[in-house]
Parts: sequence; C-alpha cells; structure tokens
Amino acid sequence: MTQPRMTSIPSAIAAAADYMPYAHERLDDNAWAYIASGAGDEITFRANRAVFDDLALNPRVLADVRSGNTALTLFGKRFAHPILLAPVAYQRLVHPDGELASVQAAAALEAGMIVSTLASHTLEDIARHAGAPLWFQLYVQPDRGFTRELVRRAEAAGYSALVVTVDAPIAGIRNREQLVRFQLPEGIAPVNLCGMETPAPIPGAKSQVFDMLMAHAPTWKDIDDLRAATRLPLIVKGILRPDDAERALAAGADGVVVSNHGGRTLDSQP
Ligand SMILES: Cc1cc2nc3c(=O)[nH]c(=O)nc-3n(C[C@H](O)[C@H](O)[C@H](O)COP(=O)(O)O)c2cc1C
Repeated sequence: MTQPRMTSIPSAIAAAADYMPYAHERLDDNAWAYIASGAGDEITFRANRAVFDDLALNPRVLADVRSGNTALTLFGKRFAHPILLAPVAYQRLVHPDGELASVQAAAALEAGMIVSTLASHTLEDIARHAGAPLWFQLYVQPDRGFTRELVRRAEAAGYSALVVTVDAPIAGIRNREQLVRFQLPEGIAPVNLCGMETPAPIPGAKSQVFDMLMAHAPTWKDIDDLRAATRLPLIVKGILRPDDAERALAAGADGVVVSNHGGRTLDSQP
C-alpha cells in the first residue's frame, strides 16, 4: 500500500494555527498587514479569538458512535461536514495560485468554499477548478446593473448560493494597514470588477461620510432587489442583531451568517 504523500507539509506544522508563524516569516509586511489585522484598535479582533477559545464542549460519554458522521444538507447541497471556507479577498497576495489553490484544497477535504467578489482570479476560473459546492459572496457595487451582472455570472458559472455581505459598506479602517501604507501589488486586482465605472459624485453632497463615502452603500431595498433577481438561495452575511436577522428572513433571505467580519470592518462589536 502506498503511503499518502505528506512531504509538502513542513514538519513544524501539525495544526492550522501552526501556519500562522510560518506564513508571517514568508509574507512581506504589506501582505501580512492585510491578512492578519483588524479594524481600529483591534478590540473586536482580539476578543473574537478569546471568546472562541472560551467555548467548551460538553461531551456525552459511552454513546455508540459507529456509522456516525457529520454530513448535512445545506440549501439543497450535501456537505460531508459543516465547513466552508469563508470568503477571503485577494488570495494571490499570499500565493500566485491564490483562490485556484484554495478551491482545490477545499475539494480535497470535501469542504465548500465561498468565493469573494474581491477574488484575485475570476469567479469563472475558480469554478472551473472546483470539486465541491461553491457559493458566491457578493459585495453590492455602486453600479447596481454591474451588481446584477455579477449575480448572473455566478449563476452561469454554477455557484449554488449567493452570500451578500452587508457589514462592510465601506472598507474597514485598519491601523496596521495604514502603518505599512498597504496597497495591492502590481498584478493583483479585483478582477471580477474589471470594467466597472466609478460612480459620479452626488450633487450637493454635505457629509463626506454619509453623502460621499457611503452614498452607494447597500440598503434593505438591495436585499429585496436581489431576492427578486435570483433564484439562488440568498444568505445575508454580517448580521449581529436578532431584529436584523428577522428582517433579513422577512425580506426573503434563506439564511444569515452571524459574523463581525473577523473584527476587520468596525471595531468594538460583540
Ligand atoms: C484577509 C481577509 C479577507 C477577507 N475578505 C472578505 C471578503 O472579501 N468578503 C467577505 O464577506 N468577508 C471577508 N472576510 C471576512 C471573513 O469572511 C470572515 O467573516 C472572517 O474571517 C471572520 O470569520 P466569521 O465570519 O466566521 O466569524 C475576510 C477576512 C480576512 C481575514
């Protein structure tokens, strides 16, 4: 019997967390700041980790677990276990293969993957490399026609659900990124947004924040419009309040992702 080839996993790595120092040594400060930082003072970013570590399992002993499994059906698709890779933008920042490598890794481990609007490969290329269910994460764009076109492309490429992220109407302000003057290196870009035009400024704008930066931010009307525009299961990502969860379901969403975006967009959230 041949042994599985493990030679490509470095001996210093036993668990997922072991990749962290390993990656830090290999990435430049620019990429590291983007991947590993949180918004503002990183209060939420740190609290997330602490709260997660605080979760305790309460095992029931002596059960007969033969033929046990973790399989489940989510929005009509069978998963071997309830694990999907969260949408993460610009994966070519950390490896030239970027999302193409991630989607193959997901398939190898029978995990699903949620592909970011800000992927650094096209959503069609990623779908061609997929071997497990793919969901598309949508950032509503200032140009709503372009946004609908993204949805249509995701449907055509075989994505099986739409995850609309609503907790990042503007990019998070990350002090660590500011300190290294983060920018996307040449050759890495949000390729799925190619050809999108910058919207014209709103005449008579008063507030730089509300009337300019957030002038095109999505609202509940966009959830209504998306519900009407697609038959894909619609999942709203970035919900933190029960009343918002209820409102999302009332608007026709099929599910919500309770998340504070890893503490990357707004600091001091639960
Ligand atoms: C480097 C990085 C990039 C991310 N990019 C996106 C993105 O493009 N779209 C999105 O919805 N979330 C993005 N996220 C947030 C993650 O999807 C996820 O919400 C976060 O890691 C926290 O996990 P949780 O939501 O399971 O709590 C990103 C997270 C990281 C660390």
